Amino acid sequence: MSHPQMSDPQMSHPQLSDPMTVLLTGAGGFVGAEVAARLTAAGHTVLALVHRNGDLVRNNGRRLTAGPDTLIRITGDITRPGLGLSDDDRRLAITADRVVHCAAVTDFGLPKDRYERVNVEGTRHVLALASAGRTPLVHVSTAYVCGERDGIAREDELDLGQRSGNDYEKSKLAAETLVRKAAADGLPVTVVRPSIVTGATRTGRVRDLKTIYPVLRVLTRGLVRTVPGHHDAVLDLVPVDRVADLVTAAVTRFQDAEGRTLHAVGHELTLRDMSDVLAEYPSFHVPRFVPPSAFSAEALPGRERPYYDRVVSLYDPYFRRRVRFDATHAEAFGHRPAPSGARSYLRRLLDHCLATGYLGPPPRRRPAAARPDGSTHR
Ligand SMILES: NC(=O)c1ccc[n+]([C@@H]2O[C@H](COP(=O)([O-])OP(=O)(O)OC[C@H]3O[C@@H](n4cnc5c(N)ncnc54)[C@H](OP(=O)(O)O)[C@@H]3O)[C@@H](O)[C@H]2O)c1
Repeated sequence: MSHPQMSDPQMSHPQLSDPMTVLLTGAGGFVGAEVAARLTAAGHTVLALVHRNGDLVRNNGRRLTAGPDTLIRITGDITRPGLGLSDDDRRLAITADRVVHCAAVTDFGLPKDRYERVNVEGTRHVLALASAGRTPLVHVSTAYVCGERDGIAREDELDLGQRSGNDYEKSKLAAETLVRKAAADGLPVTVVRPSIVTGATRTGRVRDLKTIYPVLRVLTRGLVRTVPGHHDAVLDLVPVDRVADLVTAAVTRFQDAEGRTLHAVGHELTLRDMSDVLAEYPSFHVPRFVPPSAFSAEALPGRERPYYDRVVSLYDPYFRRRVRFDATHAEAFGHRPAPSGARSYLRRLLDHCLATGYLGPPPRRRPAAARPDGSTHR
């Protein structure tokens, strides 16, 4: 375990090839488990901070197993000072060469104080631990700290007085603001901002059916048929492997990423793209997007209202925003543009969900038919 920064703050941090010890919060999460897998595969030791769920399951369903020199599981709670670690685990944690902060509450629609406690206070406690040893920190934020806005959101922008889309986004903005302040006070920091994290680039496979997935389920089943949204609103969908690759690179090549904010973004899907692709699937309902100014939840049929309130409305801001994320710094760092179009990526996600039964029974096989864009379907 090397920790040169603890003995001499002027010494450089471990370089690319040096085996490192990385304290990873949120290691049991969707992104965290993929980051843990990449770091251990590259020969680094991961101190995997787990909370309620002690299992590290990769997006492909494989379980990561603990080993003495590769993956060490420690239990903690970031809402508590010192991350709620036992004395032994705390002694271990402060020897880390890097801290990666992935832990957060990510579900929408929870009580406001939950986001405040975990996402804001939790980040404060992680910063205190990192600052104690001046340990370089990779903080995982969200591209949607940009709030409710249209146009191009840039990596070096943060608080422009924007209105956040929901309490989750607000808490991530507050957390990132704390991180920037710690950086200004001398903590070496890199921020990675994923957009909406979705299934694997090649297969569409996804471990956790959260964020946009329940919305897709409600809409394709016709449980809500009219939705407020602009046809040119953009959902940025980023495959989980791209996010984990970028976070991992930020850890292992910290010297190239230090001081930067990197947008981990992927496929820009407009609501028009979404409607057109859903219409290719005979078993799916296609929602009607209406201008938000012309929408009234009260006017929805009674049976649709609970689904709108509990699922779709949580995503309203995403259906309004005509925002695109500039990724100049991330691309200069090596985050390649997403390899295929947004429509074909959405088909991959939908095909995977159909194959698992999440979006209804899988369609019966039929000969591949040409699509308008020349690709074939199933
Ligand atoms: N998923 C997305 O679409 C998305 C998009 C943009 C940014 N992000 C950001 O990316 C990061 C990772 O997201 P994710 O999708 O991997 O989230 P996730 O699957 O919900 O995982 C979050 C992790 O945080 C842990 N956690 C929650 N409360 C904790 C506490 N009090 N103490 C310690 N750990 C705690 C959870 O552990 P338990 O489950 O055991 O409580 C879980 O392992 C988050 O910072 C998120 O804000 C995610």
